Amino acid sequence: MSLVRTNLAILGLQWGDEGKGKVVDLLSPHFHQVVRFQGGNNAGHTVVVDGQSIALHQVPSGALHPGCFLVVGNGVVLNLDVFQQELDRLKARGFDLTGRLMLSDRAHIILPHHIALDLWREGGANKIGTTGRGIGPAYEMKAGRMGVRLGDLLHPDTLAERIGHGYEEVRLRLGAGAADLPTLDAIVEGLLRTAKPLLPFIGDTQTHLVTAWERGDRILFEGAQAALLDIDHGTYPFVTSSNCSLGGLFTGTGLSPKALDKILGIAKAYTTRVGSGPFPAEMHDAIGERLRQVGKEFGTTTGRPRRCGWFDAPITAHACRTNGVDGLAIMKLDVLDGLDEVGLIVGYRTGEGTLTTKLPSCAADWKELKPEVKMFKGWASTRGVTRHGELPAEAHAYLEALVESVEVPIAYLSTGPDRQEGCIYPGTFLEPLLA
Ligand code: IMP
Repeated sequence: MSLVRTNLAILGLQWGDEGKGKVVDLLSPHFHQVVRFQGGNNAGHTVVVDGQSIALHQVPSGALHPGCFLVVGNGVVLNLDVFQQELDRLKARGFDLTGRLMLSDRAHIILPHHIALDLWREGGANKIGTTGRGIGPAYEMKAGRMGVRLGDLLHPDTLAERIGHGYEEVRLRLGAGAADLPTLDAIVEGLLRTAKPLLPFIGDTQTHLVTAWERGDRILFEGAQAALLDIDHGTYPFVTSSNCSLGGLFTGTGLSPKALDKILGIAKAYTTRVGSGPFPAEMHDAIGERLRQVGKEFGTTTGRPRRCGWFDAPITAHACRTNGVDGLAIMKLDVLDGLDEVGLIVGYRTGEGTLTTKLPSCAADWKELKPEVKMFKGWASTRGVTRHGELPAEAHAYLEALVESVEVPIAYLSTGPDRQEGCIYPGTFLEPLLA
């Protein structure tokens, strides 16, 4: 392990599914602590090891590296059934997390009635295409001071009362639909049963992290979802219910901004989105379909086909500004291999024909924007390239234009799903970190 101490955040710059899992998995052997700070089991990180893939939803991606201590911060919402299943799956593959995992006593629990409410809303006219995992209602309960936290599990006698407030509100809202809800007693019983093996993992993660920082541990912060799904800075209301941008890291861990040294922003070499909402890049043609098939663009969590389009520089530049990104990790460049031409969205035409790179704040205003696409000559293959000097000249030209539009340098380029397939750019902050 190198001696350079850098605490690093890894954040998605598009609408999620950028390949953060691969980057975290690649970097985590160089860190002592790997931390999740927002989101829940709406996230899905696939890591590939020796050709085998493991899908993780709530367990930090560093799980596969025995030297990493894993932290689930207070900003996360946890489905305990799913979490236990992930622990069991990891154990069956030889990754036992005993002694190297801590779950914040302040993290909120996703309960069955949160999921019921999420699904009930998604069945109505105002659906936004959520993952149906109860994420929004769990965060609503948190903000409405009706949430149930992991620490509450240590007080089983008051649990029914704590859950009862939110449960009653959901029952009232669901009306006749509430008939299918489990009873409050059944929810409490089920929760206590599921939580039992997890109790030893619950702790004060803020103190744990502050102590680790003071002792000089290297800390890797693993973002879930991405900037355009951020509840404040994304395409509201078609967003998730947490701050997946940089601010969420600090509220979601209790650490000071001074504890962070570098920010690596992750973006695919093209753009995808699942669920409804603004997506100017979307291509309904054969190229869009090709990106979906070659890039295997189907949700890890829900299996839904992802909407696909060219790399959208204005949204990525917005995400870089919001997150203070120091370097880009460009993922899945090889998915563009073999195309005659590759497009890059450099701006949008408004209804009046004006060219802009400014993102509207209202979903309605996105509708009239048409992407302004610059086309580049395609290339044969980048698959498995490990030195950026070995990239085809056409791929270089495309990446240079991308960097110019986003105004942030590339630090890492991924050229295939396996850990070995990619290159660290020389002279960037990642190089000494991984030395
Ligand atoms: P929720 O997070 O389940 O409430 O869903 C809100 C929106 O965020 C929907 O459009 C989801 O498809 C999207 N979303 C949530 N998590 C992810 C993710 O990890 N990747 C991509 N999209 C996501």
